[in-house]
Amino acid sequence: MKQHATESVKAKVTGFVILVAIIAAIGGLLFGYDTGVISGAILFITQQFHLNSALEEFTTSAVLIGAIIGAILGGVFADRIGRRWSIIGGAAAFIIGTLIATLAPGEFVLIIGRIIVGMAIGVASFIVPMYISELAPPQARGAMASLNQVGLTLGILVAYGVDYIYAAGGLWRAMFAWGLVPSVILLVGMLFMPDSSRWLLSKHREQQAHDVLQKVRGTADVEGEIKETEEEIKAETGGGLAVLKTSPLRMPLMIGVGLAILQQATGINTVIYYAPTIFHAAGFKSASSSIAATALVGAVNLIVTIIAAFLVDRLGRRPLLLISLTGMVLGLVVLSVAFLLSHGTPTSFLSLLTVISLMIYIAAFAIGMGPVFWLLISEIYPLNVRGTAMSLATVANWAANFLIAVTFLSFVKVLTEGGTFLVYAVVGVLAWIFAFRLVPETKGKTLEQIQQHWLAGKHPREMGK
Ligand code: BGC
Repeated sequence: MKQHATESVKAKVTGFVILVAIIAAIGGLLFGYDTGVISGAILFITQQFHLNSALEEFTTSAVLIGAIIGAILGGVFADRIGRRWSIIGGAAAFIIGTLIATLAPGEFVLIIGRIIVGMAIGVASFIVPMYISELAPPQARGAMASLNQVGLTLGILVAYGVDYIYAAGGLWRAMFAWGLVPSVILLVGMLFMPDSSRWLLSKHREQQAHDVLQKVRGTADVEGEIKETEEEIKAETGGGLAVLKTSPLRMPLMIGVGLAILQQATGINTVIYYAPTIFHAAGFKSASSSIAATALVGAVNLIVTIIAAFLVDRLGRRPLLLISLTGMVLGLVVLSVAFLLSHGTPTSFLSLLTVISLMIYIAAFAIGMGPVFWLLISEIYPLNVRGTAMSLATVANWAANFLIAVTFLSFVKVLTEGGTFLVYAVVGVLAWIFAFRLVPETKGKTLEQIQQHWLAGKHPREMGK
């Protein structure tokens, strides 16, 4: 067993495996684009269809509802038809949903289109990192799976840019329509990519798994890696929800679902979705200064995510998460103080403090909580339950996202901005303790070694040792 593990640790990072990760990460780009684009489009949609505020909110959050549905269905798809076909199906749903939303004659059809796009996001959000993790060599798995989050943050930034360009003419249909380009590239690109070798093995398609692995590793000698996965498949005890509730797997399930909720409950999407509103409240009264500050949030998010992708296989997942949560709490506390001191009429110093603290917060999120959550849930589950378990964690993530998004403005009404961000800071402290005590270090390990660790009933903290 040990010998197989060492062999696979030495596996080469080939040009082909990098291409596989880049093509799949276009799914991440669409996740970012389609969640980001609505912030600019909704204004004009509301005007054109005369939406009342309830309908406006529903149109905005339709994607999140779709994503919850997609994340539920995705688990079954990933196991039954495989990761590759699930992503291809997701790409088709991106195309259909975007066409419906772009051409919608009224709000009802528009909402249907956005729910379909949301379903595609729900599927892509976890199957893309799963697919990349299963094909990547262990020593580079962190960086490669984090490409998904790089795509995501790029997608958000591009969406802000596209919104900005079309805002002058109020062209919301064009804002949606640009999502078609990456959707088509994803669909066509994935048709040329291989299935995940691990999924093929779980379906006992050994010959195909061999062929795929030889291609992605760039060597004929893949016997060791195949054997390692096959031995783990033999050691497994079936799949599905029931197995997840058994004692060795309860811990990874709790880690995934816990991190999923904490990633959202520390308030990231109040910043991503409501940045202009926050900046406006912080004293940036002109639309253009709010937009510039928002673009800065998007750019910092992208740049630091790229840095995280470089660091995650070197420093490891745990240090990045702990640094991340420390910075997020710091940013939130300063942000909260800036709002509390301003009493609704911020001085220019307090406005500046808001921007700086938001940048600290977003940079801190991007170095850990953003990429590492999606990476970890693609690593910590045994093959037979990976689809079901990742789907559960993803549903928890989208459900928490939805709850935070729909409660943010009411929270602000009751607690003010300062109070609301303080609540997220407290959650951040709890998240730090959670990560410190329970998150395992998966750096450099093969997925099979991680699985053995749980099946042997060991504590997560022993994993890195
Ligand atoms: C989160 C999203 C968030 C994005 C921001 C992702 O990891 O799951 O909810 O919008 O990061 O970059």
